[in-house]
Amino acid sequence: MSFPERRLRRLRRTPALRRLVAEHRVSVDDLVAPLFVKEGIDGPEPVLSMPGVVQHSQESLRKEVRALCDLGVPAVMLFGVPAHKDSRGTQADAADGVMQIALRNLRAEVGDDLVLMVDDCLDEYTDHGHCGIVDETTHEVDNDATLERYASIAVAQAAAGADVIAPSGMMDGQVAAIRAALDDNGFATTPILAYAAKFASVLYGPFRDAAECAPQFGDRRGYQMDPANAREAMVEVALDVAEGADMVMIKPALAYLDVIAEVRAAFDVPVAAYHVSGEYAMVKAAAQLGWIDGDAVALEHLLAIKRAGADMILTYWAREFAEALS
Ligand code: PBG
Repeated sequence: MSFPERRLRRLRRTPALRRLVAEHRVSVDDLVAPLFVKEGIDGPEPVLSMPGVVQHSQESLRKEVRALCDLGVPAVMLFGVPAHKDSRGTQADAADGVMQIALRNLRAEVGDDLVLMVDDCLDEYTDHGHCGIVDETTHEVDNDATLERYASIAVAQAAAGADVIAPSGMMDGQVAAIRAALDDNGFATTPILAYAAKFASVLYGPFRDAAECAPQFGDRRGYQMDPANAREAMVEVALDVAEGADMVMIKPALAYLDVIAEVRAAFDVPVAAYHVSGEYAMVKAAAQLGWIDGDAVALEHLLAIKRAGADMILTYWAREFAEALS
């Protein structure tokens, strides 16, 4: 008997046929590895809520980035954990701050063979854990006072060797402020990857262990997006593109595949998706219990993020995935 569905089945018969007709694939070229570097430690320290992820010392970070580069991973996203935190996050743009030291080391290590992306935010550097300057009386984040800090941090990071500045604090006007500061200081060729649609997600919990940046009071719902809103995400992305974002990010990834697909369809800039700490931790935990095949689930997740339209994926699976392919 012949009926039209047979056509689909005929093309599923062997692995080679399936490979030939696959519409999407995940490649090492799509991956960005998020990494943490902590001041004042002698070697890597495990992050308990993220099995396989560590806080790096400067030396272990250098080795990790070298290994990723040799595996063909094109980029890393760096987060710094300073020894000293204060209300203005002064270590974030200090010339001898943990991130600026890391950037200079890594630039010397890998040259132009790997893209050094860096988080431009304050939560890792402030004692209160918020992403901006907190007003003493209202206890709210002061948007405009924060912009000056982000601009200064971007210049310090670019001067230390960053290839891409990634503002993640969801302050209004952050892309414009950073673009102007970079241009004025001789970094007109440094691109901005804007965390454009960043939702106030409960999936960032493990990251806050890794970056030691849980807010000491309140939460981030005043500046990050409400998970209920997809139309608003389009407005956020449009504003960031208009302000000069070279690439835009949607974060988290799996619970926001609709947003990734809509942004992909409506804008022509490269789209990044951040497969965040909670998404990683859930799979690792279930795999440790023997309830799922963690690597297979992770691959299915990465493929779904690609299928939705992401051009690049920030994922804690980058190293394992690159190793499995090599
Ligand atoms: C803020 C920042 C966060 C993440 C990346 N940048 C945390 C937050 O907004 O609370 C989370 C990433 C993850 O969960 O993997 N600098």
